[in-house]
Parts: sequence; structure tokens; C-alpha cells
Amino acid sequence: MKRKKGEALFSLKNSISAAVLVLVGVALGRWGDQMLQTLQKSMQAATFSYFPDYKYPFVLPELAYGHDALEPYISTQIMYLHHVHQHRLAVENLNETMREYAAYQQYSLEYLLTHLEVLPYELAEKLKNFGGSHFNHSFFWRCLSPAPQGGGMPQGRLKEAIDRKFGSFENFKRTFAIATLQCVGSVWTWLCCDHQKDLVIVTTMNYETPLTRDLLPILSFDVWEHAYYLQHHHKRLAYVLLWWNVVNWAYVEHNYDAVLTALAHVKHKKDYN
Ligand SMILES: [Fe+2]
Repeated sequence: MKRKKGEALFSLKNSISAAVLVLVGVALGRWGDQMLQTLQKSMQAATFSYFPDYKYPFVLPELAYGHDALEPYISTQIMYLHHVHQHRLAVENLNETMREYAAYQQYSLEYLLTHLEVLPYELAEKLKNFGGSHFNHSFFWRCLSPAPQGGGMPQGRLKEAIDRKFGSFENFKRTFAIATLQCVGSVWTWLCCDHQKDLVIVTTMNYETPLTRDLLPILSFDVWEHAYYLQHHHKRLAYVLLWWNVVNWAYVEHNYDAVLTALAHVKHKKDYN
């Protein structure tokens, strides 16, 4: 049967569209393969990790203390809701996301978070939130401890580095608090080590981790409202001042020593995870 002119043109357009889609599909497939090869090649150089066992399927970590152990500095209600609801929701969403990306399930959470630029766009966007939340909260829980380990001040090499950088521990706390109070919205305040082994205080929005800025965190402070509003309402300063009483400096010192050791051996800025 002879086709009308419009039908022939429509058919030609369909053929061209199909060809373009095939070419795009092949290109994306090759690009995806190259990205996976890049990840695998880069992973062989990895030497340092905060949470080496954090891989799919992810699990909500147990705390080393009870939800009521940080009273009166952080209330039982806040700790329970924060850990059992906020963090658990992030882990569930992270697993639901990763379930659709089988090719990437072999990589650790830190590895994925430091290679977002080579991941599929939708995966990277979800990892920024759910993966970042899982990393940040896991890190934050370990930075806390009830007395007698919680509170006080750092010792050893970390104390010396803080004194060198900030003049004194009190000046460090003041600088950390000012950085926290100057930020608006849902933020985290961090003490990190850069690749020159210099201490830096940074704040990140939402669930960004310092890892994405090539910084190695050693202390984290969750300043989302869910971390303090039920207890302190809008008074963020009150939360900051009480929080120092439950900082687990032994863990922070451990992080600093581990980071210094890792930085002494890395050849590439992303060889630490
Ligand atoms: Fe939080």
C-alpha cells in the first residue's frame, strides 16, 4: 500500500529518533562502564576509612550509651527521636535508593560520597541526602559520650594542634561557637584536617559531609533544629554551651591521630577512603 507523504515523514522521524536513542544508549552505557572502571581503579588506592563496614545494605548503628545517658545536656526525648527516627529514616531511604543501583552496591558509603561526580545524577543527588545523613549522624554519635569520658578537653597531639592553630582551647571553643551561630538553617559544624594537616572549622548545609570538600573530619556537631529545638527552642547558643559537656575527646583524638597517619601515606587526595 502506498503511504501518504505525511505518514512517510512521520516514519522517517521515528526512525531517526530511534537511531538517536540507540546511539545515546550506547554512549551512556560506555560512559557508565568507564565510570565504574574509574571507581574500581581508584578504590584500589584507598587506604583510610572512618566506617569501613558501611556498605549496602546499610544498618542503623547501635549507640555506645543509652538514649538517656547524656542528660541533662541532651534530653532523652531528643536522643531517642534523633537516633531511632531521624537516622533510621535516612538509612531506610538510603537502602531503598541503593536497591535500584546494583552495580554500585559493592562500594563503601565513604567511597560513594567522595566520588559523587562520576555517579548517575539521580543516585548522586539521593546519596548527598540519605548517604550524607547516615555518615554525619554515625560520626556525630561517636563524638558524644556521657561523663566521665564526655566533656573536659583534648589531650596529646590534638591539644597541641588546637593551641597552635587557635591560641587556646577556650579560643577554639569560641571560634567553633561563632561559626555555628553565624549559620542560618540546618547545618553541621566540623573540626577537620586538610591535606596540609592543618586544622580547620567548617560548616556544611543540610547533609553535606566535609569529605566532599576533601577535608577529613575529626569532630562533628549536628545543628539541625531536630537536635535541640525540643529542649532549647530557638536558643542555639544554649545548645552549643551545654554540648561541650558531652564531647567524646578520646574519639576526636583517635580521629586526629588516624588522619595524620593516613595523610603521611596518601599519594592522591582521594586515597583516604
Ligand atoms: Fe540530626
